[in-house]
Amino acid sequence: MSTPAPRAHRPGALRLFTTVLALTLTASAVAATTLTIDTRGPGKPISPDLFGIFFEDLNYAADGGLYAELIQNRSFEYNATEQPTWTPLTSWETITRGGAAGVVRVSTAAPLNANNSHYVALTVKKPGGGYGLANAGYDGIPVQGGDGYVLSFFAHQLFMGEQWSPQNTIAGRPMPVVVQLEAPNGDVLASASFEVSGRPWQKYSATLTPAHPETAARLVLLAHAQGGVALDEISLFPVNTFHHRPNGMRADLAQVIADLHPKFVRFPGGCLSHGDGLDNIYRWKDTIGPVEQRKGQRNLWGYHQSVGLGFYEYFQFCEDIGAQPLPVVAAGVCCQNSDNSPGMGQAGIPLADMPAYVQDILDLIEWANGPSTSPWGAKRAAAGHPAPFGLKYLGVGNEDQITPVFRARFKMIYDAVKAKHPEIEIVGTAGPFPDGEDFDKGWAFAKQLRIPYVDEHYYRPPAWFWSNLHRYDRYDRSGPEVYVGEYAAHDTGRRNTLRSALAEAAGMTGFERNGDVVHLASYAPLLARRGHTQWHPDMIYFTGTAVYPTPNYTVQRLFMTNSGDTELSATAEAAPAEVAVSAVRDSRTGDVILKIVNGGAACPITIHWRGLADGPHPATETVLASDNPDAVNRDGEPPAATPVTRAITLDPTFPYTAPANSLTILRLGGR
Ligand code: AHR
Repeated sequence: MSTPAPRAHRPGALRLFTTVLALTLTASAVAATTLTIDTRGPGKPISPDLFGIFFEDLNYAADGGLYAELIQNRSFEYNATEQPTWTPLTSWETITRGGAAGVVRVSTAAPLNANNSHYVALTVKKPGGGYGLANAGYDGIPVQGGDGYVLSFFAHQLFMGEQWSPQNTIAGRPMPVVVQLEAPNGDVLASASFEVSGRPWQKYSATLTPAHPETAARLVLLAHAQGGVALDEISLFPVNTFHHRPNGMRADLAQVIADLHPKFVRFPGGCLSHGDGLDNIYRWKDTIGPVEQRKGQRNLWGYHQSVGLGFYEYFQFCEDIGAQPLPVVAAGVCCQNSDNSPGMGQAGIPLADMPAYVQDILDLIEWANGPSTSPWGAKRAAAGHPAPFGLKYLGVGNEDQITPVFRARFKMIYDAVKAKHPEIEIVGTAGPFPDGEDFDKGWAFAKQLRIPYVDEHYYRPPAWFWSNLHRYDRYDRSGPEVYVGEYAAHDTGRRNTLRSALAEAAGMTGFERNGDVVHLASYAPLLARRGHTQWHPDMIYFTGTAVYPTPNYTVQRLFMTNSGDTELSATAEAAPAEVAVSAVRDSRTGDVILKIVNGGAACPITIHWRGLADGPHPATETVLASDNPDAVNRDGEPPAATPVTRAITLDPTFPYTAPANSLTILRLGGR
């Protein structure tokens, strides 16, 4: 090795690594660990889509999260089935200014449409300084000074007792409405004035540009004349969404996800896909078209899904970040843990209704891939995407109990998709655990049907990952391949720690080493809004204004940005049990990439690159390490894990010390 042994320096994790020489001498008294990488061999092909992400609307990941809408409960559809104290007016406050008086009523009498059944009927008895409503979004509305925010709402005039007639004297006088963004101290940051006139429902909109930034603004809507106004779908959307998509994604959060460079995005879940009861199954057709016409529903994680982030937005996002879409549809059954199915537990869509359900899935494929002249392709084109999205993967089922009810419905879907769309690669399911009855039955069923991929899930302690490093070495190469669709190392207290992240990294070396049979893998869950979290640990935490990637995120990013298409043989001798390695080649660049995960004490290793010419070769070294892999701050979160990258040179044989509790990536070729 021409360059002295790599050292790491990280803010917040001060440490000095003992010199290589000293460590080599110490270690040589015990055992000499060697690692030989064959850079010449043809190697084994690795799935081109190996590392992706799992997105589920859990922990306010969609509404209040990635979906950039700033108004909470914009269409007055919150209700007590979602949270016992919720009503259509949850997150709305009545505002009376300067002696104003009136009544706020929720009505369903003449809704915007059947999917959006509740709206507010605001009657102003005394206009005073304005009578109306305010909404503070999710923990306050954050706005940037000088940025544009598109305000829109649907409204019509109400007449006394809602008895409209052309003769009504108020009919001639529109209702003046002022909408403003206000700081907590009442300062008006931006405002727009409207005149709501007549019936039926009409859309009103304006762009608000606050003069100053504010982290906790609220939107205040005030009616200024005696009379009445009906209001629905009150929305405030930043202009600066990710890729400037209207109805798009929150830019900072989407960027952190894009920085992972995932090869695929699975959505919309998880359990959300198969739902709590048959009525709660996620129906993709309810999630496309104009947002005010979409059919929101109870989110089984205990809140409301507006489906403003629907299938069009998911597919568009995938395209924007260069990832394959991997939608998951229910296998004709709801979750076996359902409280709301007939008789509780798993229930199947009645067989008589299955043909329509299967057709919905075929329609999804046409919507995604069909020409814009096809009936469903035309809907995609009308939404703004005439070109096909290029759907390749389709997940059917999630962690389902493998019962006759499941099997019958899965097979109906599978046979129909295979017959009409043999180009679509289906991902089946094998229960919630990495072993056990459903796992065995799921795999047997998948082999019998020759399903291309089987979705395995495991949330297990870090030690489990270390003792399962060779899980896939033994997998049958002639049957279905594996999608590790949900995995995470759950450390004590279900916290994110570097220890858990390193256990996942160790597991990921196993995925890479078996990239011929592990086709796809995604950590789960992806996102969690602080203060609104139903599941720990998660990969990325956030508030309305900040994003907090975890060490687990860093590991995912390091793997995704250092992936290869060919697995190279890496033979370790006398390696401690807590060291895991994988070596890959990226044929686009020709780089050879070695990953060393060390879950124990500093480990001296002699590395031989077989097939490398003598002399120094340019490389980069990236180290993620910590003296205290269990560290958490007072919020129970790990300190930021910052990998350190530097340029080095490497000889064909060189001594290296893998720091204690570390992930090292040596990238030969120096790209
Ligand atoms: O990732 C959270 C949940 O864990 C998923 O919804 C479900 O599939 C699994 O049990």
